Amino acid sequence: MRCILLGPPGAGKGTLSESLQKEYNICHISTGDMFREHIAAKTDIGKLASSYIEKGQLVPDQVVIDMAKDRILRPDCSQGFLFDGFPRTVAQGEALNVMLREMGSALDAVILLEADDDMLVGRLSKRRVCGKCGAVYHLVNKPPVKEGICDLDGEQLIQRADDTEAVIKDRLRVYHEQTAPLVDFYDNLSLLIRIDGSNKASEVAADVLKALTSRH
Ligand code: AP5
Repeated sequence: MRCILLGPPGAGKGTLSESLQKEYNICHISTGDMFREHIAAKTDIGKLASSYIEKGQLVPDQVVIDMAKDRILRPDCSQGFLFDGFPRTVAQGEALNVMLREMGSALDAVILLEADDDMLVGRLSKRRVCGKCGAVYHLVNKPPVKEGICDLDGEQLIQRADDTEAVIKDRLRVYHEQTAPLVDFYDNLSLLIRIDGSNKASEVAADVLKALTSRH
């Protein structure tokens, strides 16, 4: 399975990735996670990326494209992959098409998770993540057993620096301006599957699995 998860910030791409990874046992490539790892390791890419991420802007196309290309060529992606948060501009989408063509590969589907902006602000402003393993929680929808502590490793939960209300609004604006054109881009390639991302996480996962199964 070679898939892309498309959708605005907070639509549930990361949450859905967990279910799809279990089902298809394919590698999950989150460009946002990759940038956060670079930032934590204080690499040159991390220093550059953080100056964009903290303002809710997109990291320049060529930096993301080079990083994605390097990742997709690794052996663990040979059986399939799930891109989460890439591509995010039409230029990135075109570059991915070229990459896949060169590899003799092609996409199976692009899943678009849709939800309205008010709901997305509510989800992101109440999201908490484990500072160590990255597990994702929500103060209301998916609280940890013990307040502020990760269920999986007992580490402290933190709020992502770009999950403040002001930055969330900038991220949503950037999505509508720069990423939403990919909806038509993939619809024209007959790859787009539209999913209502406002439902419960378990229902979203079930809807996606049903849609993917019926395509094959
Ligand atoms: P990235 O980390 O990709 O952030 P994002 O796209 O803004 O997406 P999020 O991780 O915020 O949300 P999500 O859709 O995964 O939602 P989640 O499942 O966590 O990117 C961060 C930054 O890196 C970008 O702003 C950009 O600067 C840069 N970047 C990354 N890729 C780039 C690229 N390709 N080009 C250029 N720059 C790039 O869920 C959110 C919350 O809601 C959680 O609390 C969760 O528990 C809850 N939730 C999820 N689903 C449900 C549900 N169905 N019902 C109720 N609650 C739910």
